[in-house]
Amino acid sequence: MTDTVDDVELPYDDGASKQEKIESLEERLEVLESQNEDMRDKLLDANAENNKYQQKLERLTHENKKLKQSPLFVATVQELTDEGVIIKQHGNNQEALTEVTEEMRDGLEPDSRVAVNNSLSIVKSLDDETDVRARVMQVDESPDVTYQDIGGIKDQIDEVRETVEMPLKNPEMFDDVGITPPSGVLLHGPPGTGKTMLAKAVANQTDATFIKMAGSELVHKFIGEGAKLVRDLFELARQHQPAVIFIDEIDAIASKRTDSKTSGDAEVQRTMMQLLSEMDGFEDRGDIRIIAATNRFDMLDRAILRPGRFDRLIEVPEPDTAGREQIFQIHTRTMSVADDVDYAALADLAEGASGADIKAICTEAGMFAIREDRTEVRMTDFREAYEKIKQEEEDEDVSRTFA
Ligand SMILES: Nc1ncnc2c1ncn2[C@@H]1O[C@H](COP(=O)(O)OP(=O)(O)OP(=O)(O)O)[C@@H](O)[C@H]1O
Ligand SMILES: [Mg+2]
Repeated sequence: MTDTVDDVELPYDDGASKQEKIESLEERLEVLESQNEDMRDKLLDANAENNKYQQKLERLTHENKKLKQSPLFVATVQELTDEGVIIKQHGNNQEALTEVTEEMRDGLEPDSRVAVNNSLSIVKSLDDETDVRARVMQVDESPDVTYQDIGGIKDQIDEVRETVEMPLKNPEMFDDVGITPPSGVLLHGPPGTGKTMLAKAVANQTDATFIKMAGSELVHKFIGEGAKLVRDLFELARQHQPAVIFIDEIDAIASKRTDSKTSGDAEVQRTMMQLLSEMDGFEDRGDIRIIAATNRFDMLDRAILRPGRFDRLIEVPEPDTAGREQIFQIHTRTMSVADDVDYAALADLAEGASGADIKAICTEAGMFAIREDRTEVRMTDFREAYEKIKQEEEDEDVSRTFA
């Protein structure tokens, strides 16, 4: 492997005839070409492997950072005194005196909002309220997922359209009949079955403003801020009617009460109370619909499920055989697939796979084709991809069964 161009040994003796020289050079060339081919294959494999580890690394680094980060609390500046700054913590309303640098002090005035750490030092100024808001919610005019991109859950799609899309499109129909349209739907089911996709497709279909908030983000960002963000969320929706509020991973803020009394739990409780009261106070809900999603239905506090809050609970299950076939077709739409690929057989093979698993299988099958220098993806690629994805899931010891 240390050969350089200069120290390549000639594969013949000086005394060899011209013909002999040519022959031995050709032989040598052939060997080198095949070695080169081998190395290229290995390189591709190594690259793919590297990619995978890179992704794992990123995930772990992110997780690690999240765990190490001590929580920040939100406080309001009360007074600037000679001894320091008096702040009042949100949540528990305690006042405290804290020292600040000159530089920081210049940027503060009574009523400024600041983020403080555990020891009540001011970490940063939070002047721009919309900034905090923007980080948690994304206002998306129209995501690009459509109903045609979702396979195997037709009944669920129909139900969501009927409860969310219809009232936004034809509110007068509900007026004429004299019923109040359902306020919201809760999608629940195992991971990777299309819940988030479905919510996005609704927003796409209705031209409504799509305001997305992930429950988990809300809880982890700023302690003392969750309830306010929920208020802001509904306010933002009112300003942008017609709007769909999508609360993904709602289990993060609406889990069953636990007995422990840590500040984190109390914070989650306050956030959930605010959510409940916003949903109850939703008298004139003509132009705002709520969709929430969770894969931890068992964890939800029953209060969130009372009538008038989520009127429809829609279970999004793992796809059945016909559903899997459809999802295979959807995810291979833009791939060049060989004639021998049998979608029904694939659907049978991938028993227990979720939509997200199927997508992974299709991408991996494409990788197998690329490794063999083909542009067409064959049935064998899909089979190998299935084995690989299945193995990976088993290695990661995911709790769900991928039979
Ligand atoms: N029914 C489906 N039809 C087509 N593709 C799907 C389906 N379900 C999942 N997928 C694929 O898996 C990806 C993840 O799906 P999605 O984010 O909607 O899952 P989810 O149900 O929200 O999962 P989680 O509970 O983990 O949030 C999608 O981007 C899509 O590529
Ligand atoms: Mg989701």
